Amino acid sequence: MDAHIPTSAAMPVAPPVTPPHWLLAELTYRCPLHCAFCYNPVNYDSVKNELSTGEWIDVMRQARALGAVQLGFSGGEPLSRNDLEELVAEAHRLGFYTNLITSGIGINETRIAALKQAGLDHIQLSFQDSSRELNDFLSSTRTFDLKRKVAALIKKYEYPMVINCVLHRHNLPHVDKIIEMALELDAEYLELANTQYYGWAMKNQAQLMPTHEQLLEAERVVGEYRAKIGKRCKLLFVVPDYYEDRPKACMNGWGSVFLGVAPDGLALPCHNARDLPGLILPNVRGMSLKEIWYGSSAFNAFRGDAWMNEPCRSCPEKSNDFGGCRCQAFMLAGDPAAADPVCSKSPMRHKIDEIILHAAKRAGTAQSAVEERPIVFRTDANSRKL
Ligand code: FES
Repeated sequence: MDAHIPTSAAMPVAPPVTPPHWLLAELTYRCPLHCAFCYNPVNYDSVKNELSTGEWIDVMRQARALGAVQLGFSGGEPLSRNDLEELVAEAHRLGFYTNLITSGIGINETRIAALKQAGLDHIQLSFQDSSRELNDFLSSTRTFDLKRKVAALIKKYEYPMVINCVLHRHNLPHVDKIIEMALELDAEYLELANTQYYGWAMKNQAQLMPTHEQLLEAERVVGEYRAKIGKRCKLLFVVPDYYEDRPKACMNGWGSVFLGVAPDGLALPCHNARDLPGLILPNVRGMSLKEIWYGSSAFNAFRGDAWMNEPCRSCPEKSNDFGGCRCQAFMLAGDPAAADPVCSKSPMRHKIDEIILHAAKRAGTAQSAVEERPIVFRTDANSRKL
């Protein structure tokens, strides 16, 4: 073989661009909670001028016409918008499968009845922990009892009970109690998602990062429960990618299925694209969704593999993981076009290993991590400071 001819694995390929599948409507960054692991941008408080009801309806119509079929209403806390019911009704009329991603704060019987009437298909309710003490500490609010009331309303209105709990070194040791709580609330589905270190969560990485032992033990416990409870409740355990040696296929590939719209109308190829340097993010106020999806430089920036450098470019796994996460590559390797440092083939993998080592070296208790460096809770005042 001629040494100058690239192998088929190394050849840049420009795949056809298919329509977006999933529209994530980040209706607002306003939120009554102050979670330490929030993935929203640290400067969320500077994002003003939220899209109006009419502008969101226009975005939904365009997305549906493009081919999107799933619509997530997220935030911040989407219930902070008092036009949520109107937006859900329009989404339902357009034929979207709709999902409300919520802390539950803001739901009462009147609102859930109205959301049901509007055609909302699915509610995902977050808990921070199974104990009032830790739930309320981690969100810096007294919301545990309220969340349990919301869980009862979700059941009453015959939604499938889908609970999400973000895991980290503070609650991993009692994942069994979190599962017991989900069973007691009659959940059909429990998502145990280990913290992903983006946005606000990255500011608290040292305080939240679990040890490998904590993770292995939690995974073992989840496995035991799966065997014990069978189909009664589906348990999803999302391992933090730092403890893997291959990166996650972030967003299932850039500009492939996911189209996010931020509260101020910025169109996002991923939740954290706002933080990537050199990207000119289009705004739905100035461009049609069709132009944004197919023609904008931001959505085309990391499609295909022509943008890849080595070791991704010649890697036989590039069509599975797409080089990993662009935001993680930027945060840890300083270059959004670098291989995701999670990958053991990345020359920057040592950065991940150092973080893991640091977590292991801490005295071993969650409390010691907080005493050493206090958690920074998400508040408007902290947003302005950071
Ligand atoms: Fe931005 Fe992974 S979060 S590409």
